[in-house]
Amino acid sequence: MISPTGTQETSMVEPERTPRSSLAAASADAVERPADDDPALNPAIDDPILEIDRISLWYGAKQALKDNSLKIATNRITAFIGPSGCGKSTLLRCINRLNDLIDEVRIEGQIRFEGRNIYDPEVEINALRKRIGMVFQKSNPFPKSIYENIAYGCRIQGIHKKSVLDEVVERSLRGAAIWDEVKDRLSESALGLSGGQQQRLCIARAIAVEPDVILLDEPCSALDPIATAKIEELMEDLKKDYTLVIVTHNMQQASRVSDYTAFLYLGEIVEYGETEKIFLKPMKQQTEDYITGRFG
Ligand SMILES: Nc1ncnc2c1ncn2[C@@H]1O[C@H](COP(=O)(O)OP(=O)(O)O)[C@@H](O)[C@H]1O
Ligand SMILES: [Mg+2]
Repeated sequence: MISPTGTQETSMVEPERTPRSSLAAASADAVERPADDDPALNPAIDDPILEIDRISLWYGAKQALKDNSLKIATNRITAFIGPSGCGKSTLLRCINRLNDLIDEVRIEGQIRFEGRNIYDPEVEINALRKRIGMVFQKSNPFPKSIYENIAYGCRIQGIHKKSVLDEVVERSLRGAAIWDEVKDRLSESALGLSGGQQQRLCIARAIAVEPDVILLDEPCSALDPIATAKIEELMEDLKKDYTLVIVTHNMQQASRVSDYTAFLYLGEIVEYGETEKIFLKPMKQQTEDYITGRFG
């Protein structure tokens, strides 16, 4: 479970749901479709690992996310697309509570991870982030050796035995498809690696702690096409063991790698569904306009 500190499990009580619009309650014949029924927002996902449930977020007075719900499928790749500033990164950061670090942020709604609300005050954030890792747009290796970049996460968890660390380092680097390139230079600085290698090293660092979910925020936007192809291939591989959620401004990338795609616009999910449907037969005009390049 998320909180390893206590043995006591809190029972999850569903909050009372307020009607989405008071208009719906006021008028008997104007029955508003609950969000859970809208086919443009609810692909069939049987066993979601994460359920984003009516998440809204404000930076100070500015609302950046407006009442968004979606289910994230286990061992699949979900992409968030949409024009710059529409809230993709903000929504992604909600999933491992990275927005908590920003001053004046207010969040409403729930995100259930394996059934439990991650915004429950009893959830331990470090334990949560171990289960839900993050890879950023700009690769950010520590100014340490390649080996230490991976071993670090284990050391702070109190694992110091060399044979165990060696094993984790090799497994993680293999998992991130970079072992062969670095196995003979593990003690060299990670900063000497190319951009694409650094990004795969950061993915290796994320998988070293054996998360369930990896969040990736535009992981290829600083990379050349060859390095990008390697990361895309790697993502395909990783979904056997992990659930991936990726923000990308590159629609070809979303259509190539993801199983599900959410299109966001001005803080709202306009459409969410199987990637093939979103790109070939979107239900909403706005989605079609965006993916055909008519705006954004
Ligand atoms: N730390 C922050 N403080 C204030 N406003 C922010 C912050 N981060 C993002 N925003 C605003 O929230 C909106 C959504 O941003 P973001 O999630 O970064 O969009 P995207 O990733 O889709 O480009 C934008 O209007 C942006 O300016
Ligand atoms: Mg962003």
